[in-house]
Amino acid sequence: MDYHIKDVSLAAAGKLRIDWAERNMPVLRLIRERFAKERPLSGTILAACLHVTTETAALVHTLAAGGAKVYLCASNPLSTQDDVAAALVDDGFHVFAIKGEDTQTYYKHINACLDPRPHLTMDDGADLVGTIHGERKDLVSGIIGGTEETTTGVIRLRSLAEKGLLLFPVIAVNDSDTKHFFDNRYGTGQSTIDGILRATNRLMAGSFFVVCGYGWCGRGLAMRAAGMGARVIVTEVNPLRALEAVMDGYHVMPLGEAAQMGDFFCTVTGDKNVIGKEHFLKMRDGAIVANSGHFNVEIDIPALEAMATSRRTIRDFVEEFTLSDGRRIILLGEGRLINLAAAEGHPSSVMDMSFANQALAAEYLVKNGKALSKAVHRVPLDMDAEIARLKLESMGVRIDVLTDEQREYLSSWEMGT
Ligand code: NAI
Repeated sequence: MDYHIKDVSLAAAGKLRIDWAERNMPVLRLIRERFAKERPLSGTILAACLHVTTETAALVHTLAAGGAKVYLCASNPLSTQDDVAAALVDDGFHVFAIKGEDTQTYYKHINACLDPRPHLTMDDGADLVGTIHGERKDLVSGIIGGTEETTTGVIRLRSLAEKGLLLFPVIAVNDSDTKHFFDNRYGTGQSTIDGILRATNRLMAGSFFVVCGYGWCGRGLAMRAAGMGARVIVTEVNPLRALEAVMDGYHVMPLGEAAQMGDFFCTVTGDKNVIGKEHFLKMRDGAIVANSGHFNVEIDIPALEAMATSRRTIRDFVEEFTLSDGRRIILLGEGRLINLAAAEGHPSSVMDMSFANQALAAEYLVKNGKALSKAVHRVPLDMDAEIARLKLESMGVRIDVLTDEQREYLSSWEMGT
C-alpha cells in the first residue's frame, strides 16, 4: 500500500491552502532552501505521525528537500485535512490518513508508516514510539532517534525513559522555548476559540468560559477568551499555576463550583476524566463542553453517555446529550482536540517555529544521534535561540545588542556597583 487517503481528486484544493500557509512560514522556508542545497537527510527514511494539516505539508516538503523519504500518518483520527493528504499524495508522498478514521484504521496507518523500517520517527503524542516499544521492537536496531511535538507525548516518553525502557534517543521539540511559549500559548489559544466558534457560532462576550488547566495552552486560551469579552474561570490542581491565574485576573475555583456557572468548558490539562459525572450533574441546560488537550480522555464521555436518555448530532461537531431531568449538555468534536476537529489547527505563523524545530531536530539526529543516550533530549539551546532570531527578523523586528562592557558585567560576579 503506497498511500491510503480519502480522495486524490481533492489535491488541487489542498495545494492552494498549502500555498497560503507557506507564505507565513519564513523560517521553515529558509531551512528548506538550505536543506535543498546541503541534503542533510539524504537516504533517511522518516516516519511522521502528525496532524495532517497545511503546515505539516510544508514540513514534509522541507524534510523531502533535505533528502528524506517521508511516510506520513495522522496523530489523531479527526485532525486530518483530506485535501492536504491528497495534495501530498499528488506530489508523490506516502500518506496514510483519512479524517474520521476508526481506531483500527488509525493503527493500521501507523504500521504502514513503520513498515518501510524508518531511521527517524517524528511524533505528536508518541504513538509511533509507543507502537515501536510495543509490538514493533524489531525496528529498533535501524532507528537513529525520534522527535516529539507535544506535551502529552513528552510525558509518555519521560515515563518510558525513567523506567529505563526507552530504546532510542528522542528530542522533545515541545521543550524548546520557540515551541511551547508560542505554539501552545498563542496557537492553541486562538485556534481553540476558532474551533469552538466554528462549531457553535455562539457569542463569547458576557459568557462564563471555564478553562480547565492553566499551563501553556490554558494561559493562551484564557487570554483569548477574555479578549472576546468572556468572563473567564480557571480550574487548576497546581497551586503555583492557580496563583498565576489569580494574579492574571481570572476567577479561580474548584470545578465542582465552576460547573454550575459555565456556559463553555474547555479542558487543556493532558490529564484524564477532568470533567466527569459530578460536574455534568451540576451544569446548566445547554452548557457547551470541549477539549483541546491531546487525547480525548479529559472529558469522561462514557459517563455522559451513561447519564443521557437521548443524544443527537445537531450541527457538525456538535452533539447534544439530554439528561433524565431534561437538561442538555453539548459535547463538541467527540471530545477530541477541538481546534483540529472543528477548525484548522494552529495558524501557520506559529507552526513555522514548531516545525523549524522539528526539521532542525531531524538534521541534528542524523548528525549526532548515534552519540546521544537513550533519553529525552532538548533541541540544542543555540538552535532554539537562532529560530527566535530568524522569526523576529522575518517580522521586521530589530532588537538591541549587548555591548562588550555589558556582556562582561552580566557574566561576572565581582562588580557590585
Ligand atoms: P502544561 O503541563 O503546561 O499544563 C497542563 C496544566 O493542567 C498544568 O498546569 C496542570 O497542573 C493542569 N492540570 C492537570 N490536571 C488537572 C485537573 N484535573 N484539573 C485542572 N488542571 C489540571 O501542558 P500544556 O502544554 O498546556 O498542554 C496541555 C495539553 O494540550 C497536552 O495534552 C498537550 O499535549 C496538548 N496540546 C494541544 C495542542 C492543540 O493543538 N490543541 C497544542 C499543544 C499542546
